Amino acid sequence: MDNKALRAKFSSLFGSAGDLYFSPGRINLIGEHTDYNGGFVLPGAIDKGMLAEIKVNGTDKIRAFALDLDEYAEFGTNEEDAPAQSWARYIFGVVREIIKRGGKVSGFDTVFSGDVPLGAGLSSSAALESAFAFALNEMFGNALPKFELAKIGQSTEHNYCGVKCGIMDQFASVFGKAGHLIRLDCRSLEYEYVPFDPKGYKLVLIDTCVKHELASSAYNKRRESCEAVVNAIKKRHPEVEYLRDASLDMLKEVAAEVTEEDYKRAEYVIEEIQRLLDACEALKQGDYETVGQKMYGTHHGMSKLYEVSCEELDYLNDIAAECGVTGSRVMGGGFGGCTINLVKEEKYDNFISTAKAKFAERFGKEPKVYPVNIGDGSRKLSE
Ligand code: GLA
Repeated sequence: MDNKALRAKFSSLFGSAGDLYFSPGRINLIGEHTDYNGGFVLPGAIDKGMLAEIKVNGTDKIRAFALDLDEYAEFGTNEEDAPAQSWARYIFGVVREIIKRGGKVSGFDTVFSGDVPLGAGLSSSAALESAFAFALNEMFGNALPKFELAKIGQSTEHNYCGVKCGIMDQFASVFGKAGHLIRLDCRSLEYEYVPFDPKGYKLVLIDTCVKHELASSAYNKRRESCEAVVNAIKKRHPEVEYLRDASLDMLKEVAAEVTEEDYKRAEYVIEEIQRLLDACEALKQGDYETVGQKMYGTHHGMSKLYEVSCEELDYLNDIAAECGVTGSRVMGGGFGGCTINLVKEEKYDNFISTAKAKFAERFGKEPKVYPVNIGDGSRKLSE
C-alpha cells in the first residue's frame, strides 16, 4: 500500500505526523452464514486491508479524510453527531461503541486508505472498523481485550450500518496470523490457529465485480429465516438455541410449521456446519481433495438452498469444475463478489486464462484475479 501518499495528505491537512495502524480484510475457506447461527468458521486475514494515520487533536471533534474517495467528514463523539457519509459512520460507530463500553475517546485527526477491493466480499468494512477499534483502544489507553475490539466492529455494523452480521469478519481482521487459518466456534468463541500451507496448491479469488444493491437487506432476511426455524424447533426441543444445536431430523419435524423458503435456508446452514467440521478433519490429514469437494458442496448449497449466489458466480463455479479446480465456491455473504478457489499448481494458469476468457465472452468484461496471501491481523506499523 502507498503509505507515502497517505502521509503526504495527512501532513497537508493536519500538520505533524500521526501513528499508522493497519487491519486486514479476510478470506474464509469454508463455513459461510454459520457465524450468526452459533456454528464454526474457518477464515484467515489477507495481506490487503485498511491503513489509517491517526493523531489526537486536543479538541472534541473527529476530522476524517477518506483518501480513496477524496472526501472529508467532521463530527463529534455524541450520538446526535452521526455523520451522513456511510464511510464516516463506520468510524463514528466504532467511537460510540467504545464509549458505550466505558472507554474514552476524544477528538482526533485521521486519513485512511485501503487496498482491499470494495464490495468483493473481502470485508473492507470490517477492516476499517477493526483498524479504528484497535487504534483508538491503544491511543486512548482503553485496554479493551481483542475480542471486545471485534465485537465493537460487529456492533457498529448492527447499530450504525444496518447489517446484522456475525462476528467472523471482524474476528478474522483482529486475530489474523500469517500462514494460518482460524477455526472459530462462534458460540463459545473458542478458537484455534490452523497452519495452512497447502503444498502443490494455490488459493485464488476471482472477483465477478458484481455488487448487489440489496445485499444487506437480503442478508438480514436470511438471518430472520434462521431465527424463525430455531423458534419452531425450540417448541419441541427447548435446548436448541441456534441452528448449530439442531439436526436435519429436528428440521424435518417442523417442516409443516415453517415456510418452504425458511426450511431450505436452515437445511443449508445445518449441512454447512457439518461440511466445515468434515473439511477441518480432512485438512488435518492434508487431504485437500476432500476439502475441495466440501467447497463445491458449499457453493451448491449457497446457490440452490440459501440463494445468495448469482449468475456470474455460478458461471465461475462451473468453469472451475470444468478446469479440474480442486475446490471452488462463492465466498462471504454472497450476492456478488468473489469465488474462492483451491487449485493444483499445474492447473492454475489454464484455469485463470479460461475463467477470464469465458467470463468476458459471456458478461462483456474480465473478472479480477487476486492470489491469496494469508497475513497478520490488526497492528500498529512502525513506518
Ligand atoms: C458477511 C458477514 C459475516 C458472515 C458472512 C457469511 O461477511 O459479515 O458475519 O455472516 O457474511 O459467512
